[in-house]
Amino acid sequence: SQKWVLLVTARTPTNIAVIKYWGKRDEKLILPVNDSISVTLDPDHLCTTTTVAVSPTFDHDRMWLNGKEISLSGGRFQSCLRELRSRAGDVEDKEKGIKISKEDWGKLHIHIASYNNFPTAAGLASSAAGLACFVFSLAKLMNVNEDQSKLSAIARQGSGSACRSLYGGFVKWIMGKEENGSDSVAVQLADEKHWDELVIIVAVVSSRQKETSSTSGMRETVETSLLLQHRAKEVVPKRILKMEEAIRNRDFASFAQLTCADSNQFHAVCLDTSPPIFYMNDTSHRIISLVEKWNRAEGTPQVAYTFDAGPNAVMIAHNRKVAGLLLQRLLYHFPPNTDADLSSYIVGDKSILQ
Ligand code: PMV
Repeated sequence: SQKWVLLVTARTPTNIAVIKYWGKRDEKLILPVNDSISVTLDPDHLCTTTTVAVSPTFDHDRMWLNGKEISLSGGRFQSCLRELRSRAGDVEDKEKGIKISKEDWGKLHIHIASYNNFPTAAGLASSAAGLACFVFSLAKLMNVNEDQSKLSAIARQGSGSACRSLYGGFVKWIMGKEENGSDSVAVQLADEKHWDELVIIVAVVSSRQKETSSTSGMRETVETSLLLQHRAKEVVPKRILKMEEAIRNRDFASFAQLTCADSNQFHAVCLDTSPPIFYMNDTSHRIISLVEKWNRAEGTPQVAYTFDAGPNAVMIAHNRKVAGLLLQRLLYHFPPNTDADLSSYIVGDKSILQ
């Protein structure tokens, strides 16, 4: 009678910040120095699928990532597991004759198997999708009766940017004021249908693992950059308001201008760190020039670019027609199988490739 297994599978897309999070005011709770705003990608292209299982036959918690067992002993996994177990509810599956009471979750062990549908080593594997999926699937399995914003505060403790992946569309991570982080949560600004003509193109510039992890990079920036303090106090609060307005009005010119400016300031803050952090490379810079020249020639921006803690370019095209032209130009400037080769393009909307 003690041979049952209960399973839940969930899928969570990754998200790309258009107003960046960079710098923690509390490292343990993962509380940021400023608000951030992101776009959640279409799950068909960049997402994590996670299956979680519980069974009385499991004798310890275990996790596999892309088929390889990884350790769950890290503080971040443990914070999420602790938070989830303490909020777990009663679970009953009458058909299978399974009954788990709240108290049992402290004794039962879980197995977690997680897969990314994008190359994990490509430096695109922002932990956002992974940790969001980890929290979401376990919350379902354990019948955690909390709203999305509470769950986002748990995912935040796994990886800051993960809190924004619990919603589709446009999402804001509010930095919050409380010392315990209870108000540092993600909220949806607009759903995925609100501005669905946008097309996202990811150019994989390098598949090398980034040299400076976001955790140590942020720590060094917080400790040494005066520009970060200016950014967090003076620049981001105003940009957040403008970005919310641009999204509300589907104002692409303003959206693109803010997105590019914020990516550039994030990389400027990295350069202002001692020792300086370089995430972009020559190819990234060439892509920026290409987009900037094009936007200037058009008179009004057609494409926005943004770069995270690595050289890969994420571009957001105003619509499908622009996305088609953008792909053509990229392929012209970075032809496949040459020195200028970008290892791949990931397009947020399959139909423009046809
Ligand atoms: O949540 P982390 O530690 O992966 O940090 C993400 C930081 C950036 O991707 C550079 C910016 C962001 O807001 O996602």
